[in-house]
Amino acid sequence: MTSPTPDGEPGASGATAERPLLQVVIASTRPGRIGMPVGRWASEHARAHGAFEVELVDLLKVGLPMMDEPNHPRLAQYTKEHTKAWSATVSRADAFVFVVPEYNYGCAPAIVNALDYLYHEWTYKPVGFVSYGGVSAGTRGVQMLKQVVTTLKLVALPEAVSIPFVQQLLEDGVLRANEVMDEAMTTLLDELVRWAGALRPLRAASAPAGL
Ligand SMILES: Cc1cc2nc3c(=O)[nH]c(=O)nc-3n(C[C@H](O)[C@H](O)[C@H](O)COP(=O)(O)O)c2cc1C
Repeated sequence: MTSPTPDGEPGASGATAERPLLQVVIASTRPGRIGMPVGRWASEHARAHGAFEVELVDLLKVGLPMMDEPNHPRLAQYTKEHTKAWSATVSRADAFVFVVPEYNYGCAPAIVNALDYLYHEWTYKPVGFVSYGGVSAGTRGVQMLKQVVTTLKLVALPEAVSIPFVQQLLEDGVLRANEVMDEAMTTLLDELVRWAGALRPLRAASAPAGL
């Protein structure tokens, strides 16, 4: 697989059953977002963990408009180039980490929009959450998102990285992770690799032609 990733990195050519592809998806798209340093930390940690090929997927660069497909995503009859490109990106993943803030005690809109565009591309894949914010660490946004992802047959893991008071951990635009975060991320990745392997046969049995 050599197509470029949405953050401009080279495609993950080495993804195999033994070394699955993890996409770290940055859900926040606003200027100055903290999602970018948190996403960079999460993807660097995942690369160092070693079990996955890793792509950093930036929804700002993916650039989806508000849902504009006429057909239900289950039909996979996409009419727009941006949907076909997004379908190709998500199709190649075996597992996800969603890096999410909390907006008004709910989830950031870009990630819901990006989820709604597709169906089969998500099914039978595990997703873990890295959330951040103030005292709540973005956890209310995660809870709301879980209702959406399970409808798409993504398997939402209970293990998570929840980062409270994230502002205090930023230095010159870089997230300085503490030991608790590092340990939680390792635990999440260990579980993701187990679930990615366990769910692989279900994906093989259910994938429509062309996806
Ligand atoms: C529209 C909006 C709503 C927000 N609502 C919450 C909230 O409900 N709870 C919270 O802890 N922080 C909230 N915040 C503060 C965010 O945690 C903080 O701005 C964080 O940096 C957002 O992530 P981002 O920078 O990646 O977009 C909100 C921020 C914005 C812009």
